[in-house]
Amino acid sequence: MSKYFSQKYQSLVPYTPGEQPKDAKYIKLNTNESPFEPSEKAADFAKNALSTLNLYSDPDCTRLREKMSEVLEVNEDNIVFTNGSDEALNFAFMAFCDDDTPAVFPDITYGFYKVFAAVNGVPFKEIPLSEDLSININDYIGINKTIFIANPNAPTGIALSLSQIEKIVSSNPENVVVIDEAYIDFSGLESAVKLTKKYNNLLVTGTFSKSRSAAGARLGFAVGSAALISDLNTIRYSTNPYNINSLTAAVGLGILNDEEYTRNNCRAIIANRKLTEESLKELGFELTSSSANFVFAKHRAISGESLYLKLKEKGVLVRHFSSERIKDYVRITIGTKEQMLVLIEKTKEILEEEK
Ligand SMILES: Cc1ncc(COP(=O)(O)O)c(C=O)c1O
Repeated sequence: MSKYFSQKYQSLVPYTPGEQPKDAKYIKLNTNESPFEPSEKAADFAKNALSTLNLYSDPDCTRLREKMSEVLEVNEDNIVFTNGSDEALNFAFMAFCDDDTPAVFPDITYGFYKVFAAVNGVPFKEIPLSEDLSININDYIGINKTIFIANPNAPTGIALSLSQIEKIVSSNPENVVVIDEAYIDFSGLESAVKLTKKYNNLLVTGTFSKSRSAAGARLGFAVGSAALISDLNTIRYSTNPYNINSLTAAVGLGILNDEEYTRNNCRAIIANRKLTEESLKELGFELTSSSANFVFAKHRAISGESLYLKLKEKGVLVRHFSSERIKDYVRITIGTKEQMLVLIEKTKEILEEEK
């Protein structure tokens, strides 16, 4: 740390992204990316955008919002695009939390919420998940704080139903409820986007990083009442109005023009998740009930950390979290069928070696 670093950030503990190793070729099942390349339309659209890179990007993402409003069936002024959904979430912490309105979220959830609270000087409370790692919605009814819930939750993959979300939203009319839907497309559940028409305190965030195969493009979005979106735009225009570069906007438009491709990929991931769950259960693993593009698994014969390290030695990268309540688990991203068969094979070998 330099002597110039602002006092207010000196105790900040930044987010630790999943490993992106360059030392070897791994089967990469650690950061919940899609194993499938983006739609060919992404490349076609991006190619056309190259010739206008001399110009600043469109701060309103006009064409992208037009198309997204068709896809999500909301108005264009109900949508804002962000640099990954991380940026939408950060903006929500900035816009809707302060000393009088602290943030609340589960004790086990997306690790960035805590960091966004800290970097923005927002007080926060973590609400413990139930023993079975599910969210007890009664903990959030009428809580009078800004609520952040990932649905499906990460890293457990466990999802709330739309009616459970509605109960939380309707019981907190004086506060914003942010539902982070990074993984909703793998759940078979209805998105909470439709509730944004009924509740002006609901903000839903989404991403192109998972089901839409574009984590590297950094494209996310938030959907809510025009007033909430206007608040986020005030923050956005006060930081970087050009938060979506022209290539990313073009990639996003290409992807939205090929929804069939996205839907097919989601179906493949859901099938591969089922295969992985069944195989891991046969090997004696205990799993949470995942509605996401990953599974969360533990085995009584091997610690989470040891399994992670041994899989890494064998060329398969998964994610281990060291926090107390979940240290026995590993989170395994669902990849192609071939990748999952290797994961299962290597896991079997490791369990044999442990005997
Ligand atoms: C629950 C959750 N929300 C949001 C994100 C951020 O995704 P992105 O910024 O790539 O849109 C992630 C990334 O892994 C996540 O797990």
